[in-house]
Formats: sequence, C-alpha cells, structure tokens
Amino acid sequence: MKQIQWYPGHMAKTKREIKEKVKLVDVVLELVDARIPFSSQNPSVGDMIGSTPRVILFNKADLADTAELQKWIEMYQDQGIPSLRIDAAKNRGVHQILPLIKSLLQDVIEKEKQRGRKERPLRTMILGIPNVGKSTLINTLAGKKKLVVSDRPGVTRQTQYIRVGTDFELLDTPGILWPKFDDEEIAVKLALTGAIKDQILPKDDVTIAGFRYLNRYYKGRLEERYDVDVDIDNIVQLFDDIGLKRGCLLPGREIDYDRVCDIVLHDLRHGRLGKITLDRVEELVSV
Ligand code: G4P
Repeated sequence: MKQIQWYPGHMAKTKREIKEKVKLVDVVLELVDARIPFSSQNPSVGDMIGSTPRVILFNKADLADTAELQKWIEMYQDQGIPSLRIDAAKNRGVHQILPLIKSLLQDVIEKEKQRGRKERPLRTMILGIPNVGKSTLINTLAGKKKLVVSDRPGVTRQTQYIRVGTDFELLDTPGILWPKFDDEEIAVKLALTGAIKDQILPKDDVTIAGFRYLNRYYKGRLEERYDVDVDIDNIVQLFDDIGLKRGCLLPGREIDYDRVCDIVLHDLRHGRLGKITLDRVEELVSV
C-alpha cells in the first residue's frame, strides 16, 4: 500500500488545491470508512468545501455493523447532511448516488432552467483519506467504458471529468486528504482497519487494541473465531492461546507473536471477526 507522508506544507497545499477544485463541482462526495466514520474523516473537510453541498458515503459497509451505521446515518440526517451506505468494491448501493445528488441539487437545476440556461451535466468530485476506496468508487461509477470528457474553456489544463450515466460528470482524480493522526486512539483505529501502514504503529499494540475493542463491543467473537477463552486482563495468555490454536510457533516451540498479530489483524480487516463499527455516535464529542 502506498503511504503518503503528510507535513504541514503538504497539508496546506492539498487544502489550497481542493478548495480550487471544489469550485468546479456542484456537489462533493465525501468518502469515509463505515467501520470508523469519525476516525476516517478529515478534520478540515468542512473548511475546504465551504458551502458546496456534500454527500457522505459510508464505504466498505459490507464490513460494518449495520445497526451502528444506521445511527451515523440518522445523526447526519439530523444535521441536514445526506448520507448513503455503499460497498464500492461490489457495486452495492452505488446506484443510489446519482438520484440523491439530483434531488439535492433540484433547486439549482430549477433556477438555471428559469434563467433559460441550457441543461448541463451535474459535476461532482470524490474526497477521502487514503485507502477509503476512492479509486474503487471512481471505477465503479465510471463502469467498463470509462469516458473521459476533455478540457473545457476556463478550466485548468489537467482538469478532466469522467462521464457518469447521461447527466453527470465526475472529476477524474479524487481529492486525497490526510487522516487525523494526532490522536492516538484514532490512529489505532486507522491501523486496525488498514487505513495506515503496519510500520507506523507497533503491530502488537494495534492487535491488543483490537482485542480490547472486540471484547468491549463484540463479546464472544474472539472466542468463536479462535476457540479460546478470553480474559482481557491477561493479554499474554490470549496471544499464547491463539498462537497455540493456530500453530504459530517458533523453533523451540515459543509462540510467534508476530504471526498471531498478522492473523488477528488480517481477520479483523477482512470481516472474519464479523462486521464491526468502532466509532460510536454515543461516544462522539464533536464531528
Ligand atoms: P483509495 O483510492 O481511497 O486509496 O482506495 P482504493 O480504491 O485503492 O481501495 C483500497 C482498498 O479497499 C482496496 O483493497 C479495495 O478493493 C478496498 N475496497 C474499496 N471499496 C470497498 C468496499 O466497499 N468494501 C470492501 N470490503 N473493500 C473495499 P486492496 O487494494 O485489496 O487492499 P486491502 O483489501 O488489502 O485493504
């Protein structure tokens, strides 16, 4: 996985570029990970998009806890922000995006009509942190015959749109945003879902955090998957038991903790420990 190093200068540049690109579109599609809707959201997105309407897309909904995700959808609904759950990889829920945009922009379309303007394609762009599924969604929306619309007057040379359906255009490069990495709990959640590389945080710490979240929110899942008893106050025992059950042994029959971490993290990220949502609306301080 490619990983971008974010520095203050890089963030400021990204912010400037996105502010410019947002001016070219009617609506922004903000992609977040349905397993961590808060932690996977960029802290400055509101500032970057200003008054441009946005739709929040909870991607990877196939891996998320449906009941918890519903609470997020309702929370945004209460704030007047429309959202959808989607699975961009398997093309589920994606068909709802265009009708939603159309209804959201109904007033704009009407006003332009009244002014006698010719009907034009509605333009949108995708924003999100790395690995949230931006490229996957662009490919799913574009379909097999990716039709790139050429530059138009007044628009910078590099700006290209992809034709989506009959009356939409999508900016062909998504806005790549930096994650919130200054909060340790958020960084751990990003690592647990695979949004940031394993090298950034110690793998064993991330795995232990995974054990604790599962024990807190999804009791019984570790027991069921690995056929072990879980005493969350005895983490070493838990590592040993999973290691023994899975045959993670070093020469000399010591437990290979590194392999245990790999197994648990892989299972957690790919839904083998069940559907999870680790950010909870009730625990939210501010969005
Ligand atoms: P990006 O452009 O935002 O950086 O993300 P990208 O589309 O490259 O997607 C990152 C990974 O997430 C890809 O897997 C992709 O298949 C997966 N993905 C995208 N949308 C969905 C979804 O709705 N559900 C699920 N389950 N996966 C999705 P990858 O490259 O194989 O990486 P990984 O599977 O090891 O994370």
